[in-house]
Amino acid sequence: MAIRVNGEDAAAPEDARVSLLDFLREHLHLTGTKVGCNQGACGACTVLVDGERVLSCLTLAAQADGHAVTTIEGLAMGGDLHPLQAAFIEHDGFQCGYCTPGQICAASAMLEEVARGTPSYVTADLSNERITLTSEEIRERMSGNLCRCGAHNGIVDAILQVAGGDAR
Ligand code: FES
Ligand code: FES
Repeated sequence: MAIRVNGEDAAAPEDARVSLLDFLREHLHLTGTKVGCNQGACGACTVLVDGERVLSCLTLAAQADGHAVTTIEGLAMGGDLHPLQAAFIEHDGFQCGYCTPGQICAASAMLEEVARGTPSYVTADLSNERITLTSEEIRERMSGNLCRCGAHNGIVDAILQVAGGDAR
C-alpha cells in the first residue's frame, strides 16, 4: 500500500509511530502544513484524508496508508489559486499566515459538509436538508481552527464569498 499525497504515491514510513504531520513535513518536505500546538488544539495542521478534514498531528501516517491525502499544496490547481486562497487574500483572511493552510483545508471540507446537508451544533432546522450558510454556521464549523492574529472576520467573509453568500 501507499499513501497518495496530492495525487502521487508515497511509501508509508517504516516507523509506525510517525505522525501524518511529521510525515508530510519531514519526509515529503510539504511544509505548507503547519505545526502549531502538536496536540490537537489549534487546527494549524489540518489536511484532508479522502476529502475529510483531519488533524494531522493526531493522525498516524500509517492510518493514511491506502488513502488519499490532500494538503494546501494540493488544493491549488496547477498555477492557479484555489478559490478559497484567492478569497482569503481578497478579504485579508490572514495576517501572519501561520494558521492559513489549516484554515483553508478546513474550509474546503466544511463547504463539502454543508453541501451534503451535514448539520452543525447551531443548525436551527434539522428537518431542512438544505443548510443556509450563515456567519454563525461558519464560525461554529471553523471553531477548531484558531487564528492568534485575530483574522477571523476576514476568514468568515472569504468563506461566505466562496459559498456564494454575501461578504460583509
Ligand atoms: S498542530 Fe495539530 S491541532 Fe495544533
Ligand atoms: S493569520 Fe496568524 S495565526 Fe492566523
